[in-house]
Amino acid sequence: MCPDPLTPYGNRPMVTPIVNAVNYEYASFEVLRQITDGEMNGYTYHRDDNPTVRKVEELLAEMENAEDCIVCTSGMAACTLVYLTYLSAGDHLILFHDIYGAHYKVSLILERMGIDITWLDADDSAGIQAHIRPETKMILLETPSNPLCKVVDIAGIRKAAGREDILLCVDNTFATPYHTRPLELGADLVIHSATKGLGGHNDLMAGAIAASKEHYNNLWFTRQAIGTTLDAYSASLLERGLKTFELRAEKMASNAMTIAQHLEGHPRISRLFYPGLPSHPGHEIAARQMHRGFGGMMSFDVGHDQEDAKKFICSLKRIYHAVSLGSTESLICIPHLTTMLYLPEERRSVFGVRPNTVRLSVGIEPPDVLTRDIRQALANL
Ligand SMILES: Cc1ncc(COP(=O)(O)O)c(C=O)c1O
Repeated sequence: MCPDPLTPYGNRPMVTPIVNAVNYEYASFEVLRQITDGEMNGYTYHRDDNPTVRKVEELLAEMENAEDCIVCTSGMAACTLVYLTYLSAGDHLILFHDIYGAHYKVSLILERMGIDITWLDADDSAGIQAHIRPETKMILLETPSNPLCKVVDIAGIRKAAGREDILLCVDNTFATPYHTRPLELGADLVIHSATKGLGGHNDLMAGAIAASKEHYNNLWFTRQAIGTTLDAYSASLLERGLKTFELRAEKMASNAMTIAQHLEGHPRISRLFYPGLPSHPGHEIAARQMHRGFGGMMSFDVGHDQEDAKKFICSLKRIYHAVSLGSTESLICIPHLTTMLYLPEERRSVFGVRPNTVRLSVGIEPPDVLTRDIRQALANL
């Protein structure tokens, strides 16, 4: 019998070994047959599967209360795997404006392939029923949304969609499984950019889709076909990130609540969006749908125009001017100049993001360090 690649020395190592092998020597033709027929968990080629990757898939499935999870090279690769696996020419897809900007680019490719797309505002999610057609195949949403942290009622959408055969896909990157478990609310697929809070240290790119075993098998077929299996080193970094994930998520949420309360009513801030504040329009749904806090993401409008927002960001000393989110360090950016840069002008404003809107991803620094930094930067305006 071959040694298990994860326990090559008999005793289980405390850290999952990084198996960099692309291919594996077959122990026998019989073993090869058992692996390819699915009778044995084994490995033959990296594009199919990798033991280090498989380990994080198991961990993530458990976190999302899913039967299984498929991990791939980035969050957008995960979204694209979902589209490629389930959509065909003639199908109808419902997307929300307030999802991560790169979906717009992917949507252009999907339209070229004959998929019809309806874009909705997360504020209008209660009226989704009016947009469902016989050919509607999939709804994909984020909650809290990106960047305005609008809250979408996952169970409400499931109910309003009516038909069981409409795939409800929820990007859970902002909320993370610490606060929301969409599968328990009626979602079919949960998507993550594991580059963000799950990894948490700005040092890896990965995507994940947690779902039933049947969906896992469908998605695995596509991943194997197109070759977006994560590399073992990134999987190992992700496993390391997951060891502290809950601690980080708890700290980010409590820091974010402190900052949001601190910013509310500040004369230099005209709008503030944090689902944990009772003044947030989606607070009631968030309080029902999210647990143990409201996450580390918020957005707000600084001063009167983009120059004010730029000046504010340039005055920050501890908060980093960078994209991405969910990391140990607090990160801030202007969505108009970053995540939404590629959207046509009319699409950038249609759902409420303004040129002076900033998106803040709160890290795990001491909260007073962050509030002091923000206060001094606002005083500079
Ligand atoms: C909510 C959300 N989903 C998906 C993505 C895409 O993830 P990745 O950059 O890992 O491809 C991002 C990226 O910022 C995101 O914010």
